[in-house]
Amino acid sequence: MASALFRTKSIDALIADSGEGESGLKRTLGPWALVFLGVGAIIGAGLFVRTAAAIADRAGPSVTLAFMVAGLGCALAGLCYAEFSSMIPVAGSAYTYSYATMGELVAWIIGWDLVLEYAVGAATVAIAWTEYFNNVLGFFGMNIPYQWTHSPFEVSQFTGVHGIMNVPAIIILALISALLVRGTQESAFVNGLIVILKVGIVMIVIAVGWGFINPANHTPYIPAATTYTSPVGVVHNYGGIMGILGAAGVVFFAYIGFDAVSTAAQEAKNPKRDMPIGILGSLVVCTILYILFAHVLSGVASVEDFRTQGREASVAYAITTYMPGYAWLAKLVTVAILAGFSSVILVMLLGQSRVFYSMSRDGLAPPIFSEVHPKFRTPYKSNILFFFVTAAFAGFIPGDVVGEMTSIGTLFAFILVCAGVWIMRVRRPDIPRGFRVPALPLVATLGMVVCGAMIYGLGWTNWLRLGVWLMIGIVIYFAYSKKHSKLESA
Ligand code: ALA
Repeated sequence: MASALFRTKSIDALIADSGEGESGLKRTLGPWALVFLGVGAIIGAGLFVRTAAAIADRAGPSVTLAFMVAGLGCALAGLCYAEFSSMIPVAGSAYTYSYATMGELVAWIIGWDLVLEYAVGAATVAIAWTEYFNNVLGFFGMNIPYQWTHSPFEVSQFTGVHGIMNVPAIIILALISALLVRGTQESAFVNGLIVILKVGIVMIVIAVGWGFINPANHTPYIPAATTYTSPVGVVHNYGGIMGILGAAGVVFFAYIGFDAVSTAAQEAKNPKRDMPIGILGSLVVCTILYILFAHVLSGVASVEDFRTQGREASVAYAITTYMPGYAWLAKLVTVAILAGFSSVILVMLLGQSRVFYSMSRDGLAPPIFSEVHPKFRTPYKSNILFFFVTAAFAGFIPGDVVGEMTSIGTLFAFILVCAGVWIMRVRRPDIPRGFRVPALPLVATLGMVVCGAMIYGLGWTNWLRLGVWLMIGIVIYFAYSKKHSKLESA
């Protein structure tokens, strides 16, 4: 029956569910803890790896403008996320919100789409981890050969060697998945340390690197529109407006994670007030740092560098090559980045298991995803299954491809969140909201337009991948989820 596709989970039941006791999650996080959680999930491969790819393939120095566009899209969607999470403070993020507003089919699509954000995103960061890990080994005169640090779709520009499998990426995913199986109670403290380390490193690079900016690298600031074929053989628009929009889609990856704050709503002490602070606060901090950092990185090394030797472990490369006397900084940056990536992978894999936990409890995903370990109280089977999924992406697909798939999937989810918050205002104006988006129709519309523009900029190969991914999801919905939905039997 068509109406089944639009059945919604009662928002009142959701809010009742979110009370203490039922979920077993403790409300321990205050506003600062949430901002830290956000920044811990946000700063990672997007800044330290994808920025260089955006400079090389899409926008040159105008990557800073791309960061502004992406930041604007996130701020608009972030406002919508904030209203939702102050209204429905439960685990599950955009999935849960859409189940309450746009019905089961859209909720399933978002949940399925969030696999791109969290699982494929974690794979992207793991691939980036490999680049910097090899750099650390280089300090000791060691190196894992090209074929074991790249996917079969990549060929070295310098030696012609083909990749086989990205082994370090699989190992880091295995280690972090094992940590998640054991539980993450101690992680708030470790996360705090890593956040301080990451933000510290970004600020030092900005402060020191500013003096090494070569104005020639910033000229012209917006390159003339042309095309560029990336090392994996995809033709991108380079330069001009389309270059900036494409680059915005690429570096959008760097902002992903602020919505992870919303998955922790059930653990926030005062979610109605603190969720908006956590989401918007972490976004503001990161946007400022990103724009400055991108300005420095694109000024220190040239586009040609980022297309060749500086394509991998780009930040360490730029410092070592163009900032004489700062070899120590390159080393410090590399170690901090490795620690930072690990925390991002952890939050993404945690977000993934939380979303599938909620979907499994609703019957849309198989019960295995909500089976809790008898001793560790973690959804361990889900963690193990998602290890295999992420390892398959990280081991065998190029970082550029998984990175852009993550961006496009998340952009799509953001568009649905913008629509959902608006729909909810019209349908249920009565529900109290701790935070209300000002000028909602304008903000939601602009959010959809800016995120849509980035999807447009990412180009047809990414549209195709998203389309195929969603088609697979729809087939699974009709073959499994629709029949097993708890709302079906209610
Ligand atoms: N924003 C996260 C990163 O850049 C996903 O690694």
